Amino acid sequence: MNVRAHLKILPLVRAAAAVAVACAALTPVGCGGASPAQLTHDQLIDPLTCKTCHPTQYQDWAGSMHAYAADDPVFQAMNQRAAVGTFCLNCHAPIAVRESLTDGTNIGALARPVKGVTCYFCHSIESVAGTHNDPLVLATDDSLFGPFGDPVAGSPHRIGYSRLLDGTTTDSADACGSCHDIQNLQGAHVERTFEEWQATTLAIPPAGESCAQCHMVASDGAVSTTAPNKIRRVHNHGFPAVDLAIGDFPPTDPQNDVTPQNLAQKTAAQAFLDTTVQQTLCLNPDTNRLQLTLDNVAASGHSWPSGATPDRRVWVELTAYAAGAVIYASGNTVDLPGFPSALPLEDSSPDPDLWLIRDCLFDSSGNQVTLFWEAATIGARNQLPGLLVQNVNDPSTYQTHMMKEFPDASRTASLPATPDHVTVSIHLQAIGDDVLDSLVASGDLDPSIPPQIARYQLGGSGALDWTPTAPKVFHAPDPTSGAVMTCVTTGTYKSNTTLTTSHARCKP
Ligand code: HEC
Ligand code: HEC
Ligand code: HEC
Ligand code: HEC
Ligand code: HEC
Repeated sequence: MNVRAHLKILPLVRAAAAVAVACAALTPVGCGGASPAQLTHDQLIDPLTCKTCHPTQYQDWAGSMHAYAADDPVFQAMNQRAAVGTFCLNCHAPIAVRESLTDGTNIGALARPVKGVTCYFCHSIESVAGTHNDPLVLATDDSLFGPFGDPVAGSPHRIGYSRLLDGTTTDSADACGSCHDIQNLQGAHVERTFEEWQATTLAIPPAGESCAQCHMVASDGAVSTTAPNKIRRVHNHGFPAVDLAIGDFPPTDPQNDVTPQNLAQKTAAQAFLDTTVQQTLCLNPDTNRLQLTLDNVAASGHSWPSGATPDRRVWVELTAYAAGAVIYASGNTVDLPGFPSALPLEDSSPDPDLWLIRDCLFDSSGNQVTLFWEAATIGARNQLPGLLVQNVNDPSTYQTHMMKEFPDASRTASLPATPDHVTVSIHLQAIGDDVLDSLVASGDLDPSIPPQIARYQLGGSGALDWTPTAPKVFHAPDPTSGAVMTCVTTGTYKSNTTLTTSHARCKP
């Protein structure tokens, strides 16, 4: 076990007078300089306690997936179906497990303050005793840790600086990462974000980049609404990425001035995704095939997609036209003349060229399984890699991108005519239809949920439209034949490419 502690508890800010207790408990702003009485353990574990003085962090967090982690109906359905005791709640409601309030079956009965990944859970992390499955060790004296070594007076809780809670250090990635990395009960490495990050150049200090540097945008502000205060770098706690809350979240609570934030979450996730993948499309005139290169530019701290990769489905929709007619299509989800829908996004897809990024899960007998806790092994990965540390023995480590030809070169086909227009869309569905269907079929998931699962089309700078005369056209040699290709890119073209594996790799 790799037990690491990076803490220095600062001298306790001592409790002052009863008047300060009232100040902390009742008035949201403007408590004077007097040090208030220390909050009790029960008060500390309730995020609403923190809202009084840290309303911005509370507001961001309240609409986040961290707050939603135990409310998520897909989580509840999977947890019920998996029936693995507290294994799942260790990360989705870690305080409930650590306070011995659950056996894994009573989520509905748990009190709001112990559901989800809460303020108290993250801020009381004292050390990290492993690399996966939430090995985080919490302080036993109710100390709260943060990124500042010089706290101002007036906090009703113990304060300590910790590198584990300071986004400017790569050590802080150990705290996030050891929860963002799952080995299931069969030992299959079903979520690998931390392992992926550790293999990138971003894990190497001092030039590295922590999870928080990309996921917690900083701005200037006061940490607490109490006086005195100090303007510092404060951090967004919304953690938008892929999953979205279904139904009003957080639920409206007029008493606590809480309103749903679904739209803000969706907008932030879409904006983040729009900058994630850069695309280059080239037409090779000798083969009359298209080459699409996808480069993971913004999520370079790990692969893309990451995390819940067993559930994620990413695919490319590419349509080529000549004189206004479709001459070729791949990855379309509706029938086009001559090009039937690519659905289902599995080996059985009728689309032989489909570029599909997903994990393939197998049980111990080598049969494909759908649900990540049933997996004993995971097939070859085909995510877009992050900025990997270079390994001279493995040339693939030099590439953060992948290339695929349309039609697929392995079938040596060419386009039936020379295209004059090609459109490309990258799609991401948070949870595959096969997974959702399985949960509905077993009666664990309400059938109204699947249509509400997050689905994205990467737009903005991620949208690509190719014509031979587009303003951004450039010419580049085909890395193998040297033929001069006509290309359009949403960023910068890099040519040291490998072909992707075909989608049919889930077949035994
Ligand atoms: C009565 C007001 C008050 C309440 C309630 C309160 N805090 Fe604080 N907190 C403060 C003050 C004041 C500071 C110091 C701010 C500074 O140094 O700029 C602070 C600092 C912090 C820091 C930064 C520590 C550091 O040095 O980096 C964290 C983290 C924190 N609080 C978490 C919490 C959490 C979690 C809760 C709820 C359990 C909470 N606070 C409740 C007033 C409060
Ligand atoms: C997933 C873990 C996590 C959760 C949950 C979390 N925080 Fe934080 N918080 C952090 C990290 C990490 C930082 C430091 C970020 C940095 O230095 O880049 C931080 C910083 C802070 C700070 C210092 C000021 C700032 O914004 O940087 C305060 C205060 C704070 N959090 C309060 C809260 C409160 C209140 C909640 C709950 C409503 C909460 N946090 C929930 C991880 C978390
Ligand atoms: C207790 C374990 C735990 C810790 C510590 C933790 N997370 Fe999470 N995180 C989760 C869980 C569980 C979810 C997903 C909840 C859901 O979707 O049901 C999540 C969700 C997220 C998401 C949203 C993912 C998506 O697809 O929408 C991001 C981004 C994220 N975490 C980043 C971080 C960062 C950065 C840190 C460190 C500052 C951190 N997390 C610390 C457990 C944790
Ligand atoms: C260089 C910046 C960068 C770093 C470092 C980074 N991320 Fe990310 N992360 C991204 C981007 C960009 C995305 C994709 C945007 C999206 O999903 O909306 C992403 C996506 C994610 C997702 C959602 C993935 C999915 O497909 O479900 C999680 C969870 C996550 N990151 C957690 C982490 C954790 C934990 C760390 C540290 C171990 C980390 N990230 C480090 C930029 C970064
Ligand atoms: C080691 C911590 C950990 C454990 C254990 C864990 N999760 Fe998660 N879970 C996470 C994190 C982190 C995310 C966010 C990943 C992302 O967004 O890419 C997540 C996301 C999810 C999601 C939303 C994304 C998706 O997959 O569709 C569901 C549902 C979920 N987990 C279910 C479960 C179930 C069921 C179990 C138990 C069989 C479980 N989790 C065990 C950490 C954990």
